[in-house]
Amino acid sequence: MTDAAGSPATTTTPRRVLLKLSGEALMGGHEYGIDPAMVREIANQVADSARDGTQIAIVVGGGNIFRGLAASARGMDRSTADYMGMLATVMNGLALQDALEQASCPTRVMSAIAMNEICEPYIRRRAVRHLEKGRVVVMVAGTGNPYFTTDTAATLRAVEVHAEVILKATRVDGVYDADPETHPNALRFSRIGYTELLSNRLQALDATAVSLAMDNEMPIVVFDMTVSGNIARAIRGDRIGTLISGEETR
Ligand code: GTP
Repeated sequence: MTDAAGSPATTTTPRRVLLKLSGEALMGGHEYGIDPAMVREIANQVADSARDGTQIAIVVGGGNIFRGLAASARGMDRSTADYMGMLATVMNGLALQDALEQASCPTRVMSAIAMNEICEPYIRRRAVRHLEKGRVVVMVAGTGNPYFTTDTAATLRAVEVHAEVILKATRVDGVYDADPETHPNALRFSRIGYTELLSNRLQALDATAVSLAMDNEMPIVVFDMTVSGNIARAIRGDRIGTLISGEETR
């Protein structure tokens, strides 16, 4: 038996995940911009996981270069500021592609805003094909629309390409019942339901992203990417961080 592409059909479906990297993840110890050592470290973990057979899509943010919401708060038109933020994600995506390919991992960058001289346009079916061929697909420019965060873009893309989980890499080791930086006694959830997250207005993800994930039963793992090896662990499916899903238990 062969699949549509003529390859022998296999009984096991490879795991497909969507890794959400914030722009800040690429800053490393810097105040701004891209730390090449940090990007290399992330890329090496992703490349190893891809070689182990996991299909990996990445949505990257742009907050290390430009944060639309912050600029609009200082008087810039929100849409213009968000478009600038989307352009920042393209720079990050190209940096990731460069590092992934230096780690011998075939990578395609796909943009929600056409810029064909720089990268491919995002076409869902083509993205899926790239994933099936073992290429890491870095999805940039958010959803292509202002007023939507890259968390929402990550959720949308995960649903579109039928990823089994969203892995949200952050600098915190999960979802807490209060901001752990200002509340030392804050409790970390090992798992939490979408509705509980929304009703308690917990800040782990924005409400649009959580609602979209809830409507499509897309689980999200929030984990600390600053711990060495955690990106590979999350991709492998180890239980780290907080699992956000339809089950409400703590
Ligand atoms: P297959 O169809 O599986 O062979 O995929 P492929 O991505 O290797 O083939 P394709 O011929 O589409 O792309 C070859 C190279 O050109 C890849 O590195 C793509 O990322 C790149 N590429 C494809 N389309 C575009 C585009 O619209 N703009 C830019 N800048 N690069 C593109």
